[in-house]
Amino acid sequence: KVADLKGLKQGQLRLAAITTAKYFIPRLLGPFCQLYPGIEISLQVTNHERILDRMLNNLDDLYIMSQVPEHLDINSQAFLDNSLVVIAPADHPLANQANIPIERLSQEPFIMREPGSGTRRAVQSLLDEHAVKVKVKLELGSNEAIKQAIAGGLGISILSRHTLITDASEFSILDVQHFPIKRMWYIVHPSGKQLSIVARTYYEYLVDAAQKFVEKTATVSLKSNIAESGQ
Ligand code: PGA
Repeated sequence: KVADLKGLKQGQLRLAAITTAKYFIPRLLGPFCQLYPGIEISLQVTNHERILDRMLNNLDDLYIMSQVPEHLDINSQAFLDNSLVVIAPADHPLANQANIPIERLSQEPFIMREPGSGTRRAVQSLLDEHAVKVKVKLELGSNEAIKQAIAGGLGISILSRHTLITDASEFSILDVQHFPIKRMWYIVHPSGKQLSIVARTYYEYLVDAAQKFVEKTATVSLKSNIAESGQ
């Protein structure tokens, strides 16, 4: 069918993604746009609560999020791991310690995401589960601003591991008990909504690209394990 030929797929694709996905999704859009130059894309990046609002108002074709709303009639597919880790400056005194008790977090100045953030909700629920109270020194509405604050020595925080994709060397991931908080990214759309050909094409592309990413990183870590064990 002519309309299915890659170069001829045309139309608009409206995406909305949670803030941590911005480290990954735009990188994948480059190759997608090259494959399908006729597709025009808009990408909204915002927090969990605002993504839910957008979904309720039917503003986008597809949503990328970590916590799938249970009270809505939606289709969702998990496509990539999104672990939350404890992030500190590279030279933090706890950086070389193993198996740090979670209670120890209460002694560090803590930087927290804003209310409405899914990261914040996941962090708070783990801390509550272990009756740990952190000293929130600063509340910031952006992962990138939190990273700058960590680098500036203002405190530690808990963020998606993907936030370190480009500058991991400036930071350390602390080995704290009960971490990482295991989460996934899901690609979501309301069940009643028929996906356009363009949206369906992107959906399949994303699931496939995530799979390749996982295979690639698995090979890399396998190779580095082999290198470490001197084989
Ligand atoms: P957030 O979303 O930007 O709302 O923190 C991230 C997540 O839910 O994993």
